[in-house]
Amino acid sequence: MSNTEVKDGMGREAGKKTCPGPILLLGAPGVGKGTQAKELVKLWGIPQISTGDLLRGNVAQGTELGRVAKEIMGRGELVPDTLVNEMVAVRLQQPDTAKGYILDGFPRTLVQAGWFDDRLAAQGQKQANAMPVVAVSIKVDYTQLLRRITGRRNCPVCQSIYNVHSKPAQRDGICDLDGAGLGQRADDSEKVFEERMRAYEALTAPVVEHYRALGRFAVVDGDQPVDVVAAGIVTAVELLRK
Ligand code: AP5
Repeated sequence: MSNTEVKDGMGREAGKKTCPGPILLLGAPGVGKGTQAKELVKLWGIPQISTGDLLRGNVAQGTELGRVAKEIMGRGELVPDTLVNEMVAVRLQQPDTAKGYILDGFPRTLVQAGWFDDRLAAQGQKQANAMPVVAVSIKVDYTQLLRRITGRRNCPVCQSIYNVHSKPAQRDGICDLDGAGLGQRADDSEKVFEERMRAYEALTAPVVEHYRALGRFAVVDGDQPVDVVAAGIVTAVELLRK
């Protein structure tokens, strides 16, 4: 989908003129946060910050953080808050985040949410024009989540996300964009998915409630075509920014 193809629920074209500020994409494993973040990046020209991708990058590079994270992620548990917060703090210092960013998979615990809220509050005191955060939670039922997780395939080169059910590659197992062999994430087995869901319900569902209570929060039905979900998120963000 190109930038100009995203329309809101009233059929209006959404454009880069919207200054999005910080946006949180919340939701269970496989709900479509990464897929939607990539759509919003094209639309708004602000970066996607996926803590899962950053951690997998550390694993691939064999950093100290990657060594710690690898086993934890393989079990479907959450990486300790202090490590994740530090990693996010470093990423948020990059100049491309100045006009806004899409956080995908963070915050994931109330400790991370508290840290992030404090950081934004401190920034708001320094910058009069700092945009408040808006949070969008994507919802999909359990059966659909499991189907999405076990059907997901990823390109290790360009990070494109495919699905054998809903978005198959044109040539089986080969990325349409760069011809690389597609892979499956180590944590995308049914067994690890169940553990990831347990962690989500125990630790991340309260974060969703935290942002619901703060306002500037919307829920979008993720069980629709990708462009329809994207339009729903755009409409929600525009309304919440008013
Ligand atoms: P992370 O990588 O963040 O995984 P997740 O939150 O479990 O989410 P996923 O990436 O699995 O799914 P998604 O919602 O992005 O869905 P996607 O768009 O790919 O985290 C992995 C691990 O890292 C964690 O378990 C933890 O250990 C650690 N970690 C990460 N962040 C952390 C944090 N903050 N604190 C502590 N630990 C942390 O879509 C899924 C599939 O569905 C794709 O195949 C896609 O093509 C398909 N799909 C998407 N949208 C649609 C649609 N509308 N219709 C049909 N199919 C669709």
